[in-house]
Amino acid sequence: MGLQFALKTFLLHLLLVLCTHRSHGEAREMTKSNVLRLPSEEENGVSDKGMHRSRPVHANPSTHMDHMDPSLMIFFTLNDLRVGKKLPLFFPMKDSSSTPLMSRDEANSIPFSCADLPHLLHFFSFSPGSPQAKAMEHTLRECEIKPIKGETKICAASLESMLDFVRETFGSETQFKVLSTTHLAKSRTLLDNYTILDEPNEIPVPKMVACHTMPYPYTVFYCHSQETENKAFVVSLGGDHGGRIEGVAVCHMDTSQWSPNHASFRVLGIEPGTSPVCHFFRGDNLVYVPINMPIHG
Ligand SMILES: *[C@@H]1O[C@H](CO)[C@@H](O)[C@H](O)[C@H]1NC(C)=O
Repeated sequence: MGLQFALKTFLLHLLLVLCTHRSHGEAREMTKSNVLRLPSEEENGVSDKGMHRSRPVHANPSTHMDHMDPSLMIFFTLNDLRVGKKLPLFFPMKDSSSTPLMSRDEANSIPFSCADLPHLLHFFSFSPGSPQAKAMEHTLRECEIKPIKGETKICAASLESMLDFVRETFGSETQFKVLSTTHLAKSRTLLDNYTILDEPNEIPVPKMVACHTMPYPYTVFYCHSQETENKAFVVSLGGDHGGRIEGVAVCHMDTSQWSPNHASFRVLGIEPGTSPVCHFFRGDNLVYVPINMPIHG
């Protein structure tokens, strides 16, 4: 992958998040799935690459109680999952097909660790302290953090290593499929009121692997799997401004161990452990689910 392309990819992926709550895996997941993209990318659907280099990295929105970041509008509760229910939701347009991965050989040829950051910054021509440098450091750190108990994780820059992780999680004999949120019709707004159009389609998930894109000069997915009970759904959504979405969502049934600071509690106005917390996946997330795996297997 050429440097030019890598640079462009990075600018496309430059996100504005810096994680402050690292103590809990779920908090980390949420931070990742809520990462903000640069406004011009969101508004135009296409990034204007040259414009972003000098933009500051914004503070983590979840540390500010006084305003609600629109990208946090992905949460809902299990009770909301019924036909006719209206939910305010934020859906960036990007889909998973716009994030190609490298081959395993290519990915392995580039160092990927915090210790290598100075070399990497030099290689990608980012000055230390720049937004890009901070985003890279954030990603490398997230990728190096040990998983919490009951969680497994990997950062994958190639499809091969992503699929290896999925096979390890499900068992090599288990077949699986990948789900992602799809945009059937474009909305005129990123944040809109969406109505649930059909009975949500529950996907059995005795296990699941969720993969989120991370800010980095090339495509890196943070994939993880947790042992706590989840329910997964595909939900047909119709927005007030033209959007039609087949949204992939997960409901975490036990939130009792989550940090009270978790953004979802603020968005939903609930306390840890009082209700399952559900969220939609953005279109550039990948959700692997096993086929025909016994629920208690
Ligand atoms: C969604 O609906 C609420 C209540 O009707 C309204 O106040 C809000 O502006 C709507 N949001 C959007 C993005 O249209």
